[in-house]
Amino acid sequence: MTEEFGFVDQEEAEAPGDEWESLDVSDDEADRIARRQDADFDEFRIRVKDTEQFKVEASVFDDATLAAVYKLVQDGHIGAFGGPVSTGKEANVYEALGHDGEELAVKVYRINASNFHHMREYLQGDPRFEGIGSDKKKVVLAWVRKEFANLRRAKAAGVRVPEPIAVQRNVLVMDLVGHADDRARRLSEVEVENPETAYEVVREYMRRLYSAGLVHGDLSEYNMIIHEGELFVIDLGQAVTVHHPNAREFLERDCENVASFFSRQGLDVTGEELHEYVTRPEPEPSADLE
Ligand SMILES: Nc1ncnc2c1ncn2[C@@H]1O[C@H](COP(=O)(O)OP(=O)(O)OP(=O)(O)O)[C@@H](O)[C@H]1O
Ligand SMILES: [Mg+2]
Repeated sequence: MTEEFGFVDQEEAEAPGDEWESLDVSDDEADRIARRQDADFDEFRIRVKDTEQFKVEASVFDDATLAAVYKLVQDGHIGAFGGPVSTGKEANVYEALGHDGEELAVKVYRINASNFHHMREYLQGDPRFEGIGSDKKKVVLAWVRKEFANLRRAKAAGVRVPEPIAVQRNVLVMDLVGHADDRARRLSEVEVENPETAYEVVREYMRRLYSAGLVHGDLSEYNMIIHEGELFVIDLGQAVTVHHPNAREFLERDCENVASFFSRQGLDVTGEELHEYVTRPEPEPSADLE
């Protein structure tokens, strides 16, 4: 696809619905590996703990997180771990390589630093997380799995997102957008040459997401990245279903943020107008009148 910001095909889109995959937040294999501390894991732990990127962020990689990375290596998802792409409050994103040399982004959530109350606000009311309770680790694990499920759902709905690959405990593996030596840029960092086209794409992605039953909930120029003229929506951890009690408020806020960014780019657009577009039911295919 060469056209600037060209849409992805929507052929594979599923019918929207409420049939969410169930998300299990019980202790996973990584917790068991960390507890067992067998010789192979021990060797892996010692080896990686010595490398630069793990030293820098030693607090992120506790034993159970290392065990999650170890499991992802064992399962063939990660071949080599690279340096940080981004270090945030709740999660760090690292570069990695798959076993066939494909470039990956690995998002590692910190269980302890995560803003747990903020997370609960988004999880409560989401039918996928009923009965999750208030255990901090469970909430973070649910969050990571939700991000993975949301990425899948967005992709199926025809929204360009990084391809989700695997999830293990507090670690999410997806395709890297761009390359290690040619990073994708946030929409906030680039000179938007053709704001009309970019706006049309974002608005269409918001509509597709909404039709697939999701509201992003933190959409702005900081959670959209651009690479080679293509726009990707990222950071879907907080995205909620349209049935969430705050879905409307979240959508209105997303629309305000997006419209305000594009007004600053010189477009005559408003949050209300965008909201109207995103939530408008798709017109029936018009009958041929002739
Ligand atoms: N799949 C990806 N490919 C390329 N870059 C990515 C990918 N995922 C995340 N990034 C980079 O990492 C940054 C942080 O990712 P993300 O927004 O998902 O995490 P976050 O927890 O919101 O962190 P922050 O608080 O810094 O926004 C992004 O702005 C982007 O630059
Ligand atoms: Mg973000």
